[in-house]
Amino acid sequence: MKWNMPPEEFRRYGHRIIDWIADYLEHIRDYPVLARLEPGELAARLPARAPEEGEPMEAILDDFERQILPAVTHWNHPRFHAYFSVSASPPGILAEALIAALNMNGMLWKTSPASTELEQVTLGWLRDWLGLPERFFGVIHDTASINAVHAIAAARFRIDPEVRSRGHAQPLTLYTSEFAHSSIEKGAMVLGIGLDNVRKIGVDEAWRMRVDLLEQAIRRDLAEGRKPFCVCATVGTTAVTSVDPVPEIASVAERYGLWLHVDAAYGGAAAVAEEFRWVLAGAERADSLVVNPHKWLFTPLDLSVLYTAHPDLLRRTFSVVPEYLRTAEDSRVVNLMDFGIPLGRRFRALKLWFIMRYFGRKAVAEIIRRHIRWAQEFAGRLLADGRFELAAPAPLSVVCFRLKGSDEDNRRLLEAVNASGRAYLSHTVLDGRYVIRFAVGHISTTEEDIDSAWQTISEEADRLGA
Ligand SMILES: Cc1ncc(COP(=O)(O)O)c(C=O)c1O
Repeated sequence: MKWNMPPEEFRRYGHRIIDWIADYLEHIRDYPVLARLEPGELAARLPARAPEEGEPMEAILDDFERQILPAVTHWNHPRFHAYFSVSASPPGILAEALIAALNMNGMLWKTSPASTELEQVTLGWLRDWLGLPERFFGVIHDTASINAVHAIAAARFRIDPEVRSRGHAQPLTLYTSEFAHSSIEKGAMVLGIGLDNVRKIGVDEAWRMRVDLLEQAIRRDLAEGRKPFCVCATVGTTAVTSVDPVPEIASVAERYGLWLHVDAAYGGAAAVAEEFRWVLAGAERADSLVVNPHKWLFTPLDLSVLYTAHPDLLRRTFSVVPEYLRTAEDSRVVNLMDFGIPLGRRFRALKLWFIMRYFGRKAVAEIIRRHIRWAQEFAGRLLADGRFELAAPAPLSVVCFRLKGSDEDNRRLLEAVNASGRAYLSHTVLDGRYVIRFAVGHISTTEEDIDSAWQTISEEADRLGA
């Protein structure tokens, strides 16, 4: 019977696992990016019941390599160009190990002074890197989706503080673009706003929210007795990375008294590079804003930051303090449990702090700049080739393109590229047409990786007779 893992064993396997990770990161290009297995294949190979007696680490690690690894899609691969290309950078991975070792729960200042204070300091640094106003208060949660729920809940509380006790009463309406992330709809759904009260505003030729249509929709709802309360703009939409006209949307929000939430989960990171600060133009007028370091700031999943200009409102939206969570310091400290749904919170700030210190702003800006430049060059290659067309402008580091052919040709091309294991791309549908997305964003991606992706795409297009 094992009562715990002895320190010598922990040390031995700890060294071995760090060595394994170092080898993995060094030779990651040897792995096919996309897992090659049929649904259910891994589960069928694993025992249906957990062991009664503990097993040796050797056996566990052996199964990790033989069983688990082949079923892994390598998100931390520099040739992962699907969805958004994200990365767990080495300093972030090391910080994750320390976070697990400390296992601190950041619910109260007293239970975790380091977690609480480092979160405030690190989010102040990030606010500075992004050029956001000092009055923005930041809090870390797991994902942008959960942060959207927090933002929408605070927006609702602002116009209806009774909602906490009475529950949802009046028909409230929320506005976002057709190209907003599904998390906005989910947020409205779980908060009882109702999908019927989410207005998905049409977009212009560059897939940006149309402010004239936004205002029309607000006026219509007011005329029909509904209560508009929140508008969610996106900086870097998931499908095409379009950037909504936040300054104009902010003016509408101010005119009608709506809460402005800016979803900059992906695109916000670009603002670290001075010449891309324009992406956050107008964001200083937002009531809340989300940026995801786990997308384009080289931070291992998960870490999403919610900034708000109204920390007191956010606190009053969520704070419920039972006796057992009261502390003598309450009047002098920030207790982060008060600013959201979860009580328990991981020490996520540590990994962002490691990353910001290890790389520094200049390197982060330069890496982001490179990603954007490579995406632009890739778009140029597609255009020069003649077989392809761009399906949307590429303002940041994602290129939406298609073969000049049928949707079926494009679907087959994407499948062939992904099956090669040499790159992984994803798709979207724009104006009813199937479109391939090429995302750049991994910290280890090099120009050779981009060349390799281009070669693969070009060869597979040849093979399809394009
Ligand atoms: C614009 C945008 N917002 C929100 C999200 C949701 O992010 P998360 O996975 O952190 O919930 C995504 C995910 O891709 C996104 O692209």
